Amino acid sequence: MTQHVHVTTAEHVTTIRLDRPDKKNAITLDMYAAMADALAAAAADPAVRAVVLAGAPDCFTAGNDLGDFVRAAQGGGDAARALGFLRNLAAFDKPLVAAVAGVAIGIGTTMLLHCDLVYAAPSARFKTPFVDLALVPEAGSSLLLPALVGARRAAQLLLLGEQLDAPTALAWGLVNAVVDDADAAAAAAARKLAACAPGALRATKALTRRASRDAVLEAMRVEGEAFTERLRSPEAMEAFQAFLARRAPDFSRF
Ligand code: COA
Repeated sequence: MTQHVHVTTAEHVTTIRLDRPDKKNAITLDMYAAMADALAAAAADPAVRAVVLAGAPDCFTAGNDLGDFVRAAQGGGDAARALGFLRNLAAFDKPLVAAVAGVAIGIGTTMLLHCDLVYAAPSARFKTPFVDLALVPEAGSSLLLPALVGARRAAQLLLLGEQLDAPTALAWGLVNAVVDDADAAAAAAARKLAACAPGALRATKALTRRASRDAVLEAMRVEGEAFTERLRSPEAMEAFQAFLARRAPDFSRF
C-alpha cells in the first residue's frame, strides 16, 4: 500500500496518478506495485475502457527513486515489483493515454513509449539519463525509442542524455500534442476512447503492436539483465552517491 499513487475510475476511465510531490514523484517499489495492480485491475474490469497515466500539474515524475537504486545495488528491495509494472504496461490491451507536465525523467519518459496517446503541457521536459547514472535503458526503450524517433535522435536521448522540451518532443513524435492543460486533453481523449467499440479498440491496438510485441518483451528481458549488472557496478554507485550528495559524478577513475 502507498499513499503516493491515486487510482480513480469514472465514466469508464481509470486514472492512475502519481502523487509524491516532495520527491518530484520519484517512483518507489511500492509505487510500482500500486501502478502494476491498478493496470491489472483495469485490464480485468470490463467496465474500464481506457486508462490515463498522470502526475502533478508541475511534475510528471523524476523517474525511479534513486535511493531504491542504491538499495537494489546493495541487494535490497524487490525489483520484481518494478518489473511487474513494466510487464503489465507492455501487455496492457486497452487504450493508454498519458498527461505530462514538468519533468518526465527515465521511466517517466520510457513508460510513454507504451502509451497510445501522450499529451504534454508546455512545461513538459523529457530526459533519459541512463548513461549519466552509469545505467542502461529499460522498459524496452532501447528498441522502442530508436523506432519512434530514429537512431540519431535516440542517441541524443540515450547516449548524451539530452533533455527535450515540449515543442521538440512534439516535432520528434514523442507526444501527440502540446496543450495548456495536458490533464484535460488526456481525460477528453480517454472519454472519447471509452465511448468507442471496446472490442474494435482492443483488436486494433493488438494489430498495431503485433509485429513488435515479442521483440519488445525480449528487449525488456535483455535490458533487465544488463540493468541489474550495471546497478551493481562501482560506476553506478558513484553516480547515485553523487546525486544524493548533490555533486557531479566523477567517472575519471574507471
Ligand atoms: N529519486 C529520489 N529522490 C529524488 C529523485 C529521484 N529520482 N528526484 C528528485 N528527488 C528528490 C530530491 O532528492 C529532493 O529531495 P530532498 O528535498 O529531500 O533533498 C527532492 O526530490 C526535490 O528534488 P530537487 O533536486 O531538489 O528538485 P529540483 O527542482 O532542483 O530538480 C529534478 C528536479 C527532477 C531535475 C532533479 O531532482 C533530478 O535530476 N532528479 C533525478 C532524476 C533522475 O536521475 N532520475 C532517475 C532516472 S533513471
